[in-house]
Amino acid sequence: MTSDNRFENLLSPLDLGGMRLKNRMVLPAVSAGMVNEGHVTGRLLDYFEERARGGAGLIIVGYATVEYPRGLTGPPKYLAIDSDKFLPGLTSLAERIKQHGAHVALQLNHAGGVAISSFAGGIPLAPSAVICRPGGEIPRAMTVEDIQAMKVRFVEGAQRVQKAGFEAVEIHSATGYLLNQFLSPAKNKRTDAYGGDLPNRARLLLEIIAAIREKVGASYPLWVRLNGKEFGVPGGITLEETCELSRMLEKAGCCAINVTHYGTYPFHQLVEPAGSFVYLAEAVKKAVTIPVMISGRMTPEVAERALQKGAADLVTMGRQLLADPELPNKVASGRLDDVAPCITCLSCLGRGANVRCTVNPALGMEKEFRPAPAPKVKNVLVIGGGAAGMEAAVVAARRGHRVTLFEKGKRLGGRMGLAARMPHKARIADLNAYLARQVNKLGVQVELGKTVTPELVKSIKPDAVVIAVGGRIPALKWLAGVLSGLLLYSDYSQVEEGGRTVTDGAEHRQVFGAHSMLTVVMKPDQRLLKSIQAIVPEVYLAGDCMAPYGIMEAVSSGARAGLEV
Ligand SMILES: Cc1cc2nc3c(=O)[nH]c(=O)nc-3n(C[C@H](O)[C@H](O)[C@H](O)COP(=O)(O)OP(=O)(O)OC[C@H]3O[C@@H](n4cnc5c(N)ncnc54)[C@H](O)[C@@H]3O)c2cc1C
Ligand SMILES: Cc1cc2nc3c(=O)[nH]c(=O)nc-3n(C[C@H](O)[C@H](O)[C@H](O)COP(=O)(O)O)c2cc1C
Ligand code: SF4
Repeated sequence: MTSDNRFENLLSPLDLGGMRLKNRMVLPAVSAGMVNEGHVTGRLLDYFEERARGGAGLIIVGYATVEYPRGLTGPPKYLAIDSDKFLPGLTSLAERIKQHGAHVALQLNHAGGVAISSFAGGIPLAPSAVICRPGGEIPRAMTVEDIQAMKVRFVEGAQRVQKAGFEAVEIHSATGYLLNQFLSPAKNKRTDAYGGDLPNRARLLLEIIAAIREKVGASYPLWVRLNGKEFGVPGGITLEETCELSRMLEKAGCCAINVTHYGTYPFHQLVEPAGSFVYLAEAVKKAVTIPVMISGRMTPEVAERALQKGAADLVTMGRQLLADPELPNKVASGRLDDVAPCITCLSCLGRGANVRCTVNPALGMEKEFRPAPAPKVKNVLVIGGGAAGMEAAVVAARRGHRVTLFEKGKRLGGRMGLAARMPHKARIADLNAYLARQVNKLGVQVELGKTVTPELVKSIKPDAVVIAVGGRIPALKWLAGVLSGLLLYSDYSQVEEGGRTVTDGAEHRQVFGAHSMLTVVMKPDQRLLKSIQAIVPEVYLAGDCMAPYGIMEAVSSGARAGLEV
């Protein structure tokens, strides 16, 4: 593997609290589901192993709640660490990650006032009886006894983190959860020693740090995740306060500060252009002498520039490492063209038990979707060069098949071409370009401007056919769909969890996104199926022609066809 000197800073090692990280790329805590009643599952092991194998220098597993189920955000898709019964799974997880040369930390959290009582098994706890998220419940204000008990939970959690073989612990004090609620003037209305000015609002966090330090030893790496500022929360934490707090945390023995831009609710920062939040980490970096982690759609190029100018020491890449866990290795070997791009569609949010990704069908199914060499090399004909057809061609070619792709249009991409021209969807073009590059690089023979007919199939005599011709939309409905999509998106002001819905800022009215409108009016198109089945024994359907559900399903069904052929 040749090292790419365009990324000198990103690829350079760093000492973090005694750990020697091989590069500056970090998988931040991304709760991905694949958890069984707080326990690690086999799927979760595969998910993390894939990301460790992909070359990240540090992997932060998370979050694990220190009080199960009361400390959970919602449906039980999060890890738990409030009992030794969780240790065997967590120990295997730490081992699986470390064996690939990545260092591993675990994030501890309590949801506090954003918990949902039906899942949490009781009224949520918070610093004050203040609703902590839109649509949330009025929590119970914690007594001083509750606060002392919470401290013990975090300390015991940290001891288990260490016992399970994790090399560091991150305390989650960001993104609207309990410790963030204590820090936030908007959520913390207490008049005792745990409310009021910053030292008081930070008291619980600082007491937790001190108590953990006492138990895990002076040298065990321990840091905190903070919001650079509290976006979307009027009267919330300011960047100046975060800098001040970071200084306190350094003094208290933290070996790093992980600065996130990810707000509480809504999540609109998640779709801002790459690098929009570098200024947050940069300000914190000026306030402390310990390493600072940065976040915010960090592409390798933006990350390198941020490191170069000294805005941070480590770069967290959340969704990008969901989309392509191998990014660090690809950066190291100069294969940037091969990086599957996160298109910031937010379809990974609000997924319940299992996270999924539009561009990475293997996410959460790492074993099933690993392309193994084909036992018998076949001549595979792919009909249609949209998302489904290209993905099918790519996976089949990776497995060693000889693949020809026919597209009746003049270019590859199918409906992604139009979708990318809709407001806020330009990044779909990145996926289109990536798939087209892979088709090209893998030697797929592409025939543009050619419509496949049963006669053509007869003359080609393929061993297998993948039909990926897209869905059908009756003309009038098509027009109505596009127009209403455009209208709805012109109304867009905030992206909510779940990604596919948009909300009218004034009335909090939920409306459907353009693609939902279109998939509602679209019909499967299986007109070619019967005639081709009569000619070729092995025929697969993929994408909208099978069932019109959007790009995620198109890519995923394309990948399945490529794996099965
Ligand atoms: C305006 C708009 C906005 C959208 N927004 C989103 C969104 O935000 N999120 C989302 O997930 N989805 C969105 N979608 C839906 C998404 O684009 C489609 O679901 C997805 O691209 C379907 O991919 P596919 O490969 O199955 O089909 P298509 O993209 O339709 O590709 C099929 C291809 O087959 C070719 N073809 C057809 N017949 C033949 C033949 N006989 N021979 C050769 N070639 C043939 C066609 O020319 C076409 O290129 C949107 C769609 C539109 C139109
Ligand atoms: C599905 C999903 C789950 C997440 N879970 C957590 C979590 O448990 N703890 C946390 O601190 N951040 C969590 N995050 C936020 C990410 O760590 C990261 O800050 C966010 O995705 C923005 O960074 P990015 O632009 O690199 O993706 C989550 C993000 C996603 C998309
Ligand atoms: S689902 Fe969308 S936003 Fe989430 S990682 Fe995948 S491409 Fe990025």
